[in-house]
Amino acid sequence: MVAAAFGSRVQRDLVDRIRASSTYIPHLALVAEVGGAIVGHVMVSGAILRSEAGDRTIAMLSPLAVAPDHQGVGIGGALVRTALQAADRRGEPLVVLEGSPRYYPRFGFVPAVPHGIHIDLPSWASPEAAQVALLGSYRPDDPTLRGQVVHPPAFDGLD
Ligand SMILES: CC(C)(COP(=O)(O)OP(=O)(O)OC[C@H]1O[C@@H](n2cnc3c(N)ncnc32)[C@H](O)[C@@H]1OP(=O)(O)O)[C@@H](O)C(=O)NCCC(=O)NCCS
Repeated sequence: MVAAAFGSRVQRDLVDRIRASSTYIPHLALVAEVGGAIVGHVMVSGAILRSEAGDRTIAMLSPLAVAPDHQGVGIGGALVRTALQAADRRGEPLVVLEGSPRYYPRFGFVPAVPHGIHIDLPSWASPEAAQVALLGSYRPDDPTLRGQVVHPPAFDGLD
């Protein structure tokens, strides 16, 4: 389903690699089902935020996929909202992602750079693709919540 949504095996392989890694958070990997079939999937897993205060683990949303014949009816939105709520309940202060600045702001994502969070983006992506959702336990004066996002090895080789 992930491969079908993206028209590529890259993200499907990414899901496999995240699942096999220490950054996998099973509680934050969700599927959407219609009639017993899986038609959507989202993963929030661990990444490193590197700052002068040191390294800490943060939550990162990637990938998000909805089956081509079920897109446009709110399944992606339901998955993102549910994943954010689960991350918030888990005490995560924020969730970062690289994604469309036309899609994710409706769920509360805002540009990451003004919050001091930097994500290396592919050359074709606009700076606004680096986004963050600030959750209940986020504290703007926490120096460990500003810095450079370091992708875990599962993301190596992705552009
Ligand atoms: C992006 C995706 C997950 C959205 O899921 P969905 O269930 O179709 O989305 P929803 O039904 O919740 O929302 C539909 C809205 O998203 C918008 N949208 C869908 N894909 C978009 C994209 N790539 N960029 C910007 N907006 C997008 C639609 O235009 C629609 O907008 P509207 O509500 O203003 O009409 C799904 O289209 C998909 O799997 N695409 C292929 C994989 C992909 O690009 N994943 C995202 C990686 S960041």
